[in-house]
Amino acid sequence: MPLTLTHEEQAWLDGRAGPALQRAMEIIVALGKIYGAQRLIPVESVQISGVSYRNIGDAGLRFLEQWVAEGARVRVPTTLNPTAMDLSAWRQQGFDPDFADRQQRIVQIFAQMGVGDGVPVPTCTPYLIGNRPSVGTHIAWAESSAVSFANSVLGARTNREGGPGAIAAALSGRTAAYGLHLEENRRPTSWVEVRTAVREVSDYSALGAVVGSAVKRGVPWFSGLLLTREDPLWEEKLKALGAAMAATGAVALYHVAELTPEAELQRPPAHHQLERLVVDDLAQGYAMLSDPVQRIDLVWVGCPHASLGEIERVAERVRGRTLRVPLWLTCARPVKEAAMHAGWVSEIEAAGGSVFADACLAIAPVRTLGFETVMTPSAKGAFYLRNLARVGVRFASLQACVTTAIRGELFDG
Ligand code: F3S
Repeated sequence: MPLTLTHEEQAWLDGRAGPALQRAMEIIVALGKIYGAQRLIPVESVQISGVSYRNIGDAGLRFLEQWVAEGARVRVPTTLNPTAMDLSAWRQQGFDPDFADRQQRIVQIFAQMGVGDGVPVPTCTPYLIGNRPSVGTHIAWAESSAVSFANSVLGARTNREGGPGAIAAALSGRTAAYGLHLEENRRPTSWVEVRTAVREVSDYSALGAVVGSAVKRGVPWFSGLLLTREDPLWEEKLKALGAAMAATGAVALYHVAELTPEAELQRPPAHHQLERLVVDDLAQGYAMLSDPVQRIDLVWVGCPHASLGEIERVAERVRGRTLRVPLWLTCARPVKEAAMHAGWVSEIEAAGGSVFADACLAIAPVRTLGFETVMTPSAKGAFYLRNLARVGVRFASLQACVTTAIRGELFDG
């Protein structure tokens, strides 16, 4: 069946509501045709990626300028992925004023479009600052870790949107009905049996690194994870698991037995033919994202952006200590403000660490900032630091990362 549009959607596509919306519709319709969609569906929220000046460059900046000059305005609540830098503290991070100017301009353009009601809050964890779509709602999010969290932990429905596709969805309030918007594509494709203790947040990251690289684009169904909603960090653990699988693979949805909203509905039948993966050791996950570096220039915590609970854990570990290696923690600005209120930011700063808002180190010019090696408790962070920022990485537990920062020499725990 061909893609069918409503009268209103057809009018937008014909340019009767202006060139900005027409361009958005052209993108949505093109994606719909590529993926065999039969209709478009309304989305309740959008999350836009492609915000870093380092990634989109001047060509991307001009593209956005032209779109907003044509009248591009968002139609549904829309949030923004991190930028390369803290929009207030970029000097402290060591950014060049010219780079900072262009990065600020990109954020201004999104503000003009109405992202965040004109005040964008760049973060990859919109669900930690109140944007939590409910089970079954259709959304169009772009950041891969947020897509995974929304689909798997919140039970919302989104594909992994690209940069222009997400903007087009924000301007039209529509996306094409294909992929994970359809029930039949939310069924598991592999059964992952976990037969080892998975305790720390970074252990979930290591597990995700192993599973993502094995199942690629699949939908894994996990058993054997002894995680419950009583664990105060259960969401952080699933955040880490999903982010890692989205990085080493392209997993956008997973189910955890007796925990995630669709897991029991999607439980594989007794005689299923699913690919089976047994994970009985996490060492491989840590090793696959660790380079043979001897010296650490920077410790980075907060990929995906840290929750209040994660900031508290760092503050507890550095309280009264002096860091010999810089430690940067990244989070959403409202989370930083709450952590300041709790006193955790000043404890981290007193030790010599920094808490930055808005920023993602993986999309920053890390070498230009003076760092050649970075240690992190995030598999996704290590994956992109290695592949995008081109620095040496060490992926380890939070305890090992903080101990390294305190001792000034690599501690592997
Ligand atoms: Fe977020 Fe950047 Fe990590 S966008 S998930 S902090 S790589």
